Amino acid sequence: MKEKGFPKDFLWGGATAANQLEGGWKEGGKGYSTADVVQYYTKEESKGKNMETVPRCEVEEILKGNRETRNYPKRRGIDFYHHYKEDIALLAEMGFKVFRMSINWARIYPNGDDETPNEEGLRFYDQVFDECLKYGIKPLITLSHYETPLHLAMEYNGWVNRKTVDFYLKYCETVFRRYKDKVKYWMTFNEINMMLNLPFTAGGVFIETCENEKQAKYQAIHHQFIASALATKLAHEIIEDVQVGCMLGITHTYPETNKPIDNLLSQKANRNNYFFVDVQSKGEYPTYILNEWEKENIHIEMLPNDLEILKNNTVDYISFSYYYTMSVSERALHGNGGANGLPDFGIPVVPNEHLKRTSWGFQIDPIGFRIIINELWDRYHKPIFIAENGMGEYDQLNEDGTIHDAYRIDYLREHIRQMKEAINDGANVFGYTSWGCIDIISAGTSEMSKRYGYIYVDQDDYGNGTLKRYKKDSFYWYKKVIASNGEDL
Ligand code: BG6
Repeated sequence: MKEKGFPKDFLWGGATAANQLEGGWKEGGKGYSTADVVQYYTKEESKGKNMETVPRCEVEEILKGNRETRNYPKRRGIDFYHHYKEDIALLAEMGFKVFRMSINWARIYPNGDDETPNEEGLRFYDQVFDECLKYGIKPLITLSHYETPLHLAMEYNGWVNRKTVDFYLKYCETVFRRYKDKVKYWMTFNEINMMLNLPFTAGGVFIETCENEKQAKYQAIHHQFIASALATKLAHEIIEDVQVGCMLGITHTYPETNKPIDNLLSQKANRNNYFFVDVQSKGEYPTYILNEWEKENIHIEMLPNDLEILKNNTVDYISFSYYYTMSVSERALHGNGGANGLPDFGIPVVPNEHLKRTSWGFQIDPIGFRIIINELWDRYHKPIFIAENGMGEYDQLNEDGTIHDAYRIDYLREHIRQMKEAINDGANVFGYTSWGCIDIISAGTSEMSKRYGYIYVDQDDYGNGTLKRYKKDSFYWYKKVIASNGEDL
């Protein structure tokens, strides 16, 4: 049987985010971002805690200087700020065609609402992009990846406030004009759906200060939708041949059994995801969400032409992150199943005994990846870019400087195989950036020991280490994958 396989100009690469990568948190005129106040907790301390949420009272203490003895790994990242030349050279050695990274908004507008941008911050990204382009690596930029300027959270409660739309657009215009000849691929918000679960991380919102939490979250989401649509419009006006995408953190949810009720629950859970792409790709709110708002008495404030803005400025492509699938069951509704360590975000999650898990409990499901790609293609018919995928694991650095990460190679191989199957099924996938191509700080737990990279960085959870970079076995493997355009897995 004849197979299509990967298109010849397929964009192979890797992905990162500024707050997990850069460090230099107080250098070059950068302001505080929300990520700078997220501290590391040991496994014991973190039990029952949402580690990505920082309440306002805690931030006030931090800003007064009363919490400086604590451990804030996202402030130091892996010091890409000073190592970017070495790091990009390693990515180039693997043959990267694309490098996904984010611009740290607080490097450009330190407070978010400043009159003028910070030239030193702009210069830093000029240097980084030039370094990528020197090797023929295309930068793909996420404009907002869990790093809102902290001042916007303190002063405006982040994205709940409509003013944040204007601050964001000013930032977008600045970077679009500055980098229009260097960057052609953009994403407006990382995992935009996470606003429902992680309002501080995803939008600088202190949800405990809001009267109606659900309404506040949807209001913030509406503002991000408008901001994303207007940023897409702006990019098209300023940059030639630009591609702007939305980005969704997808967790496909299976029914545990063939009971109709389990199927209904899975449909409901999946709608939680697709809702975001429905708006950003089709340009309108789906009726199921409008009905839910009506039933729950949720009223979203909109300006008269908001719906028109959404309709006229849909995204050019759809991207998503994929780590695992989940299953739901009626029995968990009755308290008999339970999440058993899996993230549930308020839906009746049960473990899937057919799937193995990583050390962090992520259920490994390559076929789930194919299902999602096909689903997105069938539903929207827009080009698809895989923004994140990968395996966070403990790695062992041996005395001779080697790291044997066969488990990671297996994980990636199976997922890439399924991505190829989805392309053979008919989906238009134009690129793949595996997550954390060089080890960085974990988003969820601020751990360094949860490693995703092809490149090992010598640093522990407390910032001890030489920061020296080492090539893992997966480094050589991915190099071969790229060189063969996905044929030699
Ligand atoms: C995605 C985020 O949710 O998952 C990344 O966009 C994050 O920022 C990645 O790092 C993996 O999650 P974690 O918690 O293992 O780092």
